[in-house]
Amino acid sequence: MALITFGLVLAALLAGGGSNTVETLKTCVAANDCYAGSISITTNAGLHLESISSCCQDNLCNHRELNLPPVNLTANGLECPVCFVFGSDHCEGMEFLSCTGVASHCITVSGTLQAGGLPSLFIARGCSTETACSLPLGRGLYSTGIIYNLNRLECNPASKARNG
Ligand SMILES: *[C@@H]1O[C@H](CO)[C@@H](O)[C@H](O)[C@H]1NC(C)=O
Repeated sequence: MALITFGLVLAALLAGGGSNTVETLKTCVAANDCYAGSISITTNAGLHLESISSCCQDNLCNHRELNLPPVNLTANGLECPVCFVFGSDHCEGMEFLSCTGVASHCITVSGTLQAGGLPSLFIARGCSTETACSLPLGRGLYSTGIIYNLNRLECNPASKARNG
């Protein structure tokens, strides 16, 4: 089974600065490891992850290109608690983020992430598309140079923002 995945990070995860990474990955994976569809997750510190992937099953079938949908930064009237902590799987505090575009769910994921060095704990909470709620646990998920391994995922429909 072949995989095409195309990922975009609008702000660097570890630097927390305003850099963008766009990446295309084409590879062969086991059928069970191929998750097709688009995913968008926004947390605090300006971290935004957007990815789209497609699976196919013939020789050289993953030659085609995928394009990310334009990032929609218009508030949609929903909000979620946000946090991002690197080096721990606990967040304190309750800051809220206005969700944008088609992000209709509040997500919390924790596990490890690995960006070259050793895996480190992390937790992220924020707005996501509904598709992100079915990310698999206990498997390496590769996006823009980082391997995520999730061991906890909670997802709920977002509530209306208190200030309208
Ligand atoms: C962007 O998101 C807003 C809020 O969900 C929506 O009203 C608008 O139609 C979207 N724009 C585009 C171009 O999809």
